[in-house]
Amino acid sequence: MTTKVLEVKGLCKSFGGVRALRDLSFTVNENEVLGLIGPNGSGKSTTVNTLSGVLPPTAGEIRLGGHPVQNLPEWDRVAMGLTRTFQTASVFPEFTVREQVVLGCEATRRSRPIASAFRLKADRAEEQEIAKRVDTVLELTGLTALADAKVGVISAAEQRFLMIATALASGPKMILLDEPAAGMISHERETLTRMIRRICDSGTSVLVIEHHMALIMEVCDRIVVLNFGAQIAEGTPAEIRENRAVIDAYLGEAA
Ligand SMILES: Nc1ncnc2c1ncn2[C@@H]1O[C@H](COP(=O)(O)OP(=O)(O)OP(=O)(O)O)[C@@H](O)[C@H]1O
Ligand SMILES: [Mg+2]
Repeated sequence: MTTKVLEVKGLCKSFGGVRALRDLSFTVNENEVLGLIGPNGSGKSTTVNTLSGVLPPTAGEIRLGGHPVQNLPEWDRVAMGLTRTFQTASVFPEFTVREQVVLGCEATRRSRPIASAFRLKADRAEEQEIAKRVDTVLELTGLTALADAKVGVISAAEQRFLMIATALASGPKMILLDEPAAGMISHERETLTRMIRRICDSGTSVLVIEHHMALIMEVCDRIVVLNFGAQIAEGTPAEIRENRAVIDAYLGEAA
């Protein structure tokens, strides 16, 4: 049976007179990588911003594991298993890679009430749980060997992998990646492609925005295409590649 992790129904977002999202409806299932593609300004980042709670939608419903979350703040959505990265990387240069990932764990830690009488014991168990989680996430993102390196000295691509690792540290059911390959060269994009597949296989569904079509076509199970804020197509990579509306609006004849 297919389990829906994220359900989006009739999602609209306007900025004054600009209708950035026009009635989007799609789902992301368990063990699925969904691609979100479209021309510049078509509403991809706005979709991620409304799903993650950075922006309130003008209308529509967002369900996470069956629960409506469109009125909840960003941190509540993280605690419920929905996390994201941003289009531009933000890191703390003086931290080690491991310390930065531990920060990501704090997002869920703060939201879990612990009975004060058991506080110390719970804290110790929690520390162990966090250390284990951090190791798993570093492994998943290929950063184990860099765990003790200062964030400021690792490469730009490694910093982007670290942003993914930090988001994964909260143990999400769903991660939203906004242009994770920005600025990467070909072999780094290939590493990222394999990483996205591993993340999905480890139990975190993925929604990925990218302009690199080779990455999208290789890694996605399904793709949703936006143009001027409207959903113009949805299908498998093979279907999207052949779709006349998508070719005309975005892909061109060469894809
Ligand atoms: N905070 C904002 N205030 C006003 N208008 C905005 C805001 N954010 C986005 N927009 C507008 O909404 C539309 C969609 O923008 P969005 O950033 O979602 O596009 P995108 O598909 O992510 O583009 P790109 O591929 O360039 O990243 C654009 O017309 C943009 O100018
Ligand atoms: Mg964008």
